[in-house]
Amino acid sequence: MPLTNTKFITDIVKQAAAKARQEVSNEPEPELTEPISWPVECTVGPGLEGAIACETKIGYVNGTRGSLIYRGYDIFDLCAEASYEEVSYLLLHGNLPDADALTGFSDQMQEFRLIPKTLRLIMGFPVQDMNPMAALRMGTNLMRQYQTERDQVGAASAGTKVIASDDDSIPMEREKTGDRRAAFEFSDRNANRPRRRAKAKREQAEARGLESCYHLIAGVGTLTAAIERVRMGHMPIEPDPELSHAGNLLYMMTGRRPYPVEQRIMDICLTLHADHGMNASTFAAMVVASTLSDIYFSIGSGIGALNGPLHGGANEAVIHMLNQIGSSRRVGSWYKEARANKTKIMGFGHRVYKAYDPRARVLGPLAEFLVERSGRKDMQKLLATAKELEKRVIADLGERKGIFPNVDFYSGIVYSCLGIPPEMFTPIFAVSRVAGWTARVLEYLKNNRIFRPRGIYVGDLDRPFKPLADRG
Ligand code: SDX
Repeated sequence: MPLTNTKFITDIVKQAAAKARQEVSNEPEPELTEPISWPVECTVGPGLEGAIACETKIGYVNGTRGSLIYRGYDIFDLCAEASYEEVSYLLLHGNLPDADALTGFSDQMQEFRLIPKTLRLIMGFPVQDMNPMAALRMGTNLMRQYQTERDQVGAASAGTKVIASDDDSIPMEREKTGDRRAAFEFSDRNANRPRRRAKAKREQAEARGLESCYHLIAGVGTLTAAIERVRMGHMPIEPDPELSHAGNLLYMMTGRRPYPVEQRIMDICLTLHADHGMNASTFAAMVVASTLSDIYFSIGSGIGALNGPLHGGANEAVIHMLNQIGSSRRVGSWYKEARANKTKIMGFGHRVYKAYDPRARVLGPLAEFLVERSGRKDMQKLLATAKELEKRVIADLGERKGIFPNVDFYSGIVYSCLGIPPEMFTPIFAVSRVAGWTARVLEYLKNNRIFRPRGIYVGDLDRPFKPLADRG
């Protein structure tokens, strides 16, 4: 099958969709909740499990049916028919772009993929010795090299009553005393004028906010690719305007222009990872944004949270686990020991999905396609081990505990076949998720309220103070 026939990849996605819909067809549809009237009652477990943080229209994860939608569109349809550029626009704006909007968005992505100054700054750090996610987080903070009005004290609480000085303000004379004073206030010559100006400022800020999101979605891809190039002892590669975001990610990272099929598979991976409800990294980004901090700090926080092996870092841990098992023949004994030691099996289980993660349903067959095409013995062995482990875990924990493969179980095999090393799997996750992070931050700021949950104090009380000399 030539690596130019991307229709074959779309067929793989559609077959996965048909299998999923057939398997969950008798699951009851979720009763979607009515709009919330705050305060709301909910049962909350440790780690805010079950807590309702906000309303959202961006994405919905159905844990029992194992389905995922972005802005009302099923993830399988988006993978089969849309590009990551269309999906990013959808998450941010709420609708799929028409041809003009997509051209405009893609042009801005192309412009924002060029971040030479940031790359020069980041190359002043020992990137080759750093955790790639630490380098990526630092890079996002270096992407904004100037202060914005957000950084001015008090500016964030915009909407004040005083009308600031204005370039068309003119010195005004008091009739009687004749002294002149700076025209930093307007008489009520035109009551609508300040409101119009405030509206223009708000629209400007909104445009800047959106522009920063585009900048981050485009730039995090370039940063990730550059980090890999520097780690390998090479110089970063400039993006190719002819390639898509996914295509540029592979090209700037590997130095080789991807085949259309590889570009299509990377694009599907970016769509699959773009958003996923109130996951830890999205929540982290929103918490930082809720203080009216800068979006670049928010995204840095999302990257920090995603780094953990219980979250985005699991995809790298899966490859290490499969290599440690060694072969499909050794899965049985390995699994028995893992269960005896209560070891968490990387790439399995999920806080929300108690069914097969729909994203793994697409990534599994893509991994099989790529491994078969690659003819690589090491990847064939890894895949055989993964398939045997999947069988064992589902047989033991599937129905009993709702533990199935999640998005991280097969993604590493797909990325390995695309020439991406395991240390870069989680940064690739961030390249995709920055669309969901920025979209949810923008949405939350429309009705912002700083996040401040409670901690129940269970410590000592009324302890008498003991001076240093008396402390044994
Ligand atoms: C992602 O939130 C998101 O949406 C995240 C994400 C996204 O797109 O943003 O989907 C991406 O983070 C996917 C998850 C990647 N992480 C892993 O694959 C690491 C392995 N998985 C586990 O650590 C775990 O499943 C979590 C962290 C993902 C979810 O854990 P929960 O909901 O906190 O469940 P738990 O730890 O309370 O476990 C409940 C029970 C326990 O058994 P008992 O103590 O009740 O006997 O299930 C068991 C757990 O031991 N269990 C597992 C298991 N996951 C849960 N047992 C073995 N292997 C596992 N992987």
